[in-house]
Amino acid sequence: MCDEKSVMQRVKLANGFELENPQEAAKYYLEAAQMLVELSEKTPEKDGEFMDMANKLYLKGKKLKEKKSAVIQTKKSKEITFDSIGGLHELKEEIRFKIIEPFKSPELFEYYGKSIGGGILMYGPPGCGKSLIAKATANEAGMAFFHVKSSDLKSKFVGETEKNIAELFEKARENQPAIIFFDEFEAIGGERSEASAHEKNFVAQLLTEMDGMDSKDQKILLLAATNEPWSVDSALRREGRFGKTLFVPQPDFEARSHIFELLMAKRPTEKLDFMKIAKMTQGFSGADIKSVCEYATNIPLKESLVTKEKRKISMDDMNLAVTKTDSIVKQWYAKAKQQVELKRMGEFFPDLVQRAREVEPILL
Ligand SMILES: Nc1ncnc2c1ncn2[C@@H]1O[C@H](COP(=O)(O)OP(=O)(O)OP(=O)(O)O)[C@@H](O)[C@H]1O
Ligand SMILES: [Mg+2]
Repeated sequence: MCDEKSVMQRVKLANGFELENPQEAAKYYLEAAQMLVELSEKTPEKDGEFMDMANKLYLKGKKLKEKKSAVIQTKKSKEITFDSIGGLHELKEEIRFKIIEPFKSPELFEYYGKSIGGGILMYGPPGCGKSLIAKATANEAGMAFFHVKSSDLKSKFVGETEKNIAELFEKARENQPAIIFFDEFEAIGGERSEASAHEKNFVAQLLTEMDGMDSKDQKILLLAATNEPWSVDSALRREGRFGKTLFVPQPDFEARSHIFELLMAKRPTEKLDFMKIAKMTQGFSGADIKSVCEYATNIPLKESLVTKEKRKISMDDMNLAVTKTDSIVKQWYAKAKQQVELKRMGEFFPDLVQRAREVEPILL
């Protein structure tokens, strides 16, 4: 049941438990808050009133509950290194020089008067390795890695998202050297002029945290990824914040061939002509390439389930898989070009503009 009466019942219960069993009280406060959120969705005319109350109860519940955040986790995926990523040589070099080496040899960078830190914003079409390279960076550098999806940080309760952001930086400080990786960055670092008042505070909180990061003892690096760079608030793209933007393009011929080879390495195949497959897949993203490999593998696998004979993956399977896979990269370029032109941001994203021009005749 979800009505005002059941909400009041929970609040009463919570009140009763507050002193002797704060955990139980917290549970009831949080339940009541959740119910109010649902009620506010159902009754738009009382939306404001219900959400206000929900916020108050939520904060009360949160306070009572032992302070331990569920949204922040350190994840390490050991097997992903730079070697398991095809292509993107320049990007790897840049990350080595900007992130990994300064943390391995800080005295050398200091000797040459180089400042350490600052953030890197990666942008580019979907499925081209942004998240992958962030994970690999953490492994290569041997640092704690905080993979933050905006959905993990975002809360519909007023003040909660800012608190999550503050908590995240606190956790990273405790675990330094650490990398904080903001995935889907546009969702939390979005343009303030287009955001609600509530969301504007996210960017403000991020700026506060980043500006407080100058002191030398803070070995925290910031990486962010987005496929909507034009939506990221410009204040976040300034020097000392995410001052460096790196374009992560779709893989070129050599990279495609390498990615196919990497993805098929552990599977039973006949001799495959990776050059030929790479030629057929111009404009495909890494994720598209993965789909091709999955599709091709499923053909003999499904056959084997019927025939009980183990047939290896053949070039014919690969050919068929390519024709069945449609890349979404071209749609992304069309949208990206339109948005960047509309917002007159060409100078901020020169690589994107150039790539869009190059791929246009091939893809569109
Ligand atoms: N350069 C690459 N080398 C090997 N695999 C790749 C490469 N690029 C993409 N892939 C494959 O595609 C998948 C998707 O890549 P990833 O999640 O890193 O893309 P992304 O750029 O973060 O996309 P999005 O913008 O949608 O978040 C990876 O898990 C990997 O299997
Ligand atoms: Mg990603």
